[in-house]
Amino acid sequence: MICKTDREREGMRAASRVVKAALDAARDFIKPGVSTLEIDAVVEETIRSMGATPSSKGFQGYPNASCISVNDVVVHGIPSLAVVKSGDIVSVDITALLNGYQGDAARTFAVGSVSEADKKLIAAAEEAFYMGLEYAVDGCRVGDVSSAIQLYSELNGYGVVRALTGHGIGHKMHEFPEVPNFGKKHAGPTLKNGMCICIEPMITRGTWKVFIERDGWTVRTADGSNAAHYENTVIVTDGKPEILTI
Ligand code: MF3
Ligand code: CO
Ligand code: CO
Repeated sequence: MICKTDREREGMRAASRVVKAALDAARDFIKPGVSTLEIDAVVEETIRSMGATPSSKGFQGYPNASCISVNDVVVHGIPSLAVVKSGDIVSVDITALLNGYQGDAARTFAVGSVSEADKKLIAAAEEAFYMGLEYAVDGCRVGDVSSAIQLYSELNGYGVVRALTGHGIGHKMHEFPEVPNFGKKHAGPTLKNGMCICIEPMITRGTWKVFIERDGWTVRTADGSNAAHYENTVIVTDGKPEILTI
């Protein structure tokens, strides 16, 4: 779906509000000693209380309402009985379906007191998103978004994960176009007014290389360095892009 009608945009905004509420609930709940499964339960309750459903649950067999990725886990961490502790960084990624529309967003949260280096990593993932967002404008190319994210991240010494990308979003969680976090300026599909995309830098304090654990989901950095993830659902416009999940 290239979501350009007013009605479609309203649907995307409403789904995104659910995701935002679930992220806020997770942020408020996270503290040393809570398990990632408990965080996931808070996310699922929030989504369902708003009349929406968690899209990730059952998506290609994924078991939970959220992806919760601790420290060197980049994305797709499966909630478990493991508890988070002070000094951990926890990425929470949530997709919700409301009235046929999807919203998708992720944040990395600090638990208790974390290292300065991890604070900077978290801030850099957010900043990388905004570098890419500059180009979520009618007439720009996907490669403009990608290269802005890559340049900013690498100039600041971070690895840019390549195995996973941002994406278009609409009635389905993943739609055209793919929005990589690395690439060349003036390349790739042209962005059009009304397109809905997820821009989601995943950066690490070390290598861009990752591996998938034997559970088939958990994506970890190859060198064990910590990773951060920052994602929003965005509408491309011919002026200022509209961020739906803030
Ligand atoms: N929310 C993820 C994204 O940003 C997709 C998660 S799929 C799941 O694209 F199955 F792992 F939940
Ligand atoms: Co996501
Ligand atoms: Co996404």
